[in-house]
Formats: sequence, C-alpha cells, structure tokens
Amino acid sequence: MSVFLALLVLSVTIFGLFLKYRHGFWQRRGIPHEVPSFPMGDFKEWRTTKGFFEIIGPIYKKYKGTSPFAGMFLVFRPVALILDMDLVKNILIKDFNNFRDRGVFSNQRDDPLTGHLFALDGTKWRDLRQKLTSVFSSGKMKYMYPTVIKVAEDFRKVLEEKQATAVGGVIEMSELLSRFTADVIGVCAFGIDCNCLHDPQAEFVSMCKRAVIERRHNKFIDSLMEGAPKLARTLRMRQLPQEVHDFYMGIVHKTIEYREQNNVKRNDLMDLLLELKNKGDKNFAITVNDIAAQAFVFLIAGLETSSTTMGFALYELAKNQAIQDKLRREISDVLERHNNEYTYEAMQDMRYLDQVFSGEWKTVEN
Ligand code: HEM
Repeated sequence: MSVFLALLVLSVTIFGLFLKYRHGFWQRRGIPHEVPSFPMGDFKEWRTTKGFFEIIGPIYKKYKGTSPFAGMFLVFRPVALILDMDLVKNILIKDFNNFRDRGVFSNQRDDPLTGHLFALDGTKWRDLRQKLTSVFSSGKMKYMYPTVIKVAEDFRKVLEEKQATAVGGVIEMSELLSRFTADVIGVCAFGIDCNCLHDPQAEFVSMCKRAVIERRHNKFIDSLMEGAPKLARTLRMRQLPQEVHDFYMGIVHKTIEYREQNNVKRNDLMDLLLELKNKGDKNFAITVNDIAAQAFVFLIAGLETSSTTMGFALYELAKNQAIQDKLRREISDVLERHNNEYTYEAMQDMRYLDQVFSGEWKTVEN
C-alpha cells in the first residue's frame, strides 16, 4: 500500500512539475501571454460557463496592436493567438503547409466518427480534402438544393401552425431553427427523413444535442485529450459517448445497405460519398467508416453554426423593420423573375439576402 501511495505521489509531483514547466513556454520565449491557471491553462471556464470565443475574445482585444501574436495555453499545450492580419494571411496562404493541422483530437481506429475533415491532420487530411473538394463544389450544392427546399417547405408549415397558436404572437425560434437544420442535415448528409421539425421528441434531435455537447469522459480528462491529442490517440482513447457512436454508425450502415441493395439515388451527400467509395481508388480507399465520419462532421460543424446564424439574422431583422421590408421586397421581386420558384439560381440572385446573412447590411444604404 505504501509503495502504491509513494508511486501515486511521485506521479502527481512529476505531472505537476511537467505542467509548471510547460506553462513557462511563452515566458521563456519572451512572448506576451496571460498567466495560465493550473491545470487548465487559459481554458478553465471552457464548456462550463464560457464558450470558446468568450475566452479568446478578451485576450485578443487586450493584446491586439501590441504584438503580432499572444501566447495562451490549452491545458498544457501552448497556443499562439494571431493578432496581426499579415501574419494571418501568411499562415493561411504562403506558409499553409506548416500550419495545416488543426491539432484537435481524432482517432480513426478506435473512434471512427472522429476521423472527419475537421479533425484529421497531415496527409490524411490532405488526401481526404482533395477527394471531398468536388463534393463541396457549387455544382454539387445546386444538386442538393431541391432537397433543402423540401425541408424549408415543411419549416414554413410548422411555422404557420405555431403562429396560429402562439401566445402573444411569440414563437421560440432558436429551437425551431435547430430542428429545421437537423432535418436538413439528416436528409442531406445521412439520407434519412428524421422528422425533427414535426416531432421535438424525435431521437435524432436528442442525439444531435448529445453529439455536440456530451463527451465520453469528464471535462478534465476530455481537456487533457484535447491538450495532448497524439498521446490520447496512442492510448487508444475515445471521445464520443457509446450511444452517440452507435446511433450514427447504425444510421449510416443501414442507409448504405439499403441504397446499395435497392439502387436508390437521392441527390444528397450520401450519394456523393458512396460514388467516391465505389470508384475504388486503390491509393486512397474511402471506407464506410470514412463516409460515416464525414456525414457526422456535417452535423457537428453545420448544426449550431447554421441555426444560430439564422437565429441572429432573424433577431436583427425583427429589430430593424426597414431592413426587413427591403429584404422582403427583394425576395418577392427575385421570385417573380423566377416564376415564383425557389431555385438555386433564384437564391443566387438574392444579393441583399446574402448581405443580411453576412452582417453587411449595416454598411449598405437602405
Ligand atoms: C455559419 C456557418 C458556419 C461557420 C461560421 C463555419 C465556420 C468554420 C470555420 C471557422 C472552419 C475552420 C476553417 C479553417 O480552419 O480554416 C470551418 C471548417 C469546416 N466546416 Fe464550417 N462553418 C459553418 C457552416 C458549416 C456547415 C453548414 C458545414 C457542413 C455542412 C460545415 C463544415 C465544415 C467542415 C467539413 C470544415 C473542415 C474543412 C476542412 O478541413 O477542409 N461548416 N467552418
């Protein structure tokens, strides 16, 4: 027992000293930085009381103009917060090859849904990115557009139903937008009608929330995994809760089986990914697990981002009647020119709509 205790104390002491040394990384290099807190570095409140940008925003403002970049720590991992626009351009363009990796956790072998475009590093990311670039082309978006419009029609119906019964005319939009986005992602990426708009209790809705919020381990272990993703991968650690993993893997397996057996085509991402798989490139084979992971990234990268963007746009429109009127006029005019059909081409013609979504309406004349 005493040997065990001694080993435990020794391990904790070594880990503490290692952490202290790592937290001196920016200090030793004379780079301006916040004093990191022990053991989480600058991300102590991350995923509890603060979001990512609430943490980096104030640090960005504090150091902007004083240095090309400032130092931060994600647990014990040094992170450079870039403050200078020319440096940003160099990193994203000229020196991109040195900064290609996002360095977030992924483990294709043991946690296959994490083997997606956002999380993969190195040549795995590059090869997959090359394969998938064609899937994200505007031509392919156009091909998927009618599928999105069908869900939008459903959204309109649900909104009308809600409007008829809304107390004081108030409708809770953020949840509705989230369910709309979940239906779009369900049908476009996973190839299923998941019925989130009509049924708030649909399993897809709760699994979407769990996929974005829940982790397999507690916050401390999860942060350590993000702080040392390579070590976590070597230790064969996994990030996603088992139920979330089984749910999405199950959907993808069933969809692929059904489509291949019945030769079904549905103009969606799943079709495009299946095409890539069936082309059978011998240098870079796309597996069913790869397909599942890419469908999954549509969910985690597309759900919150798209629904909150729509939510904020609607909020701003509600506060700015003149802009709302101008946008409504544009939509009616454009639709009239396009036989009152919501086509991809009609959407491309809605220039003011694009400005509203990009937040550029503040700078344009009304
Ligand atoms: C308002 C909406 C969105 C915002 C603000 C947003 C933002 C971002 C950002 C900042 C990145 C990282 C870029 C980089 O590291 O260079 C990214 C990457 C990515 N996003 Fe989005 N995103 C949005 C919507 C979506 C949607 C709807 C999808 C999919 C359906 C998506 C899928 C992805 C993927 C797959 C990547 C990784 C791309 C790669 O590594 O090549 N995003 N997004």
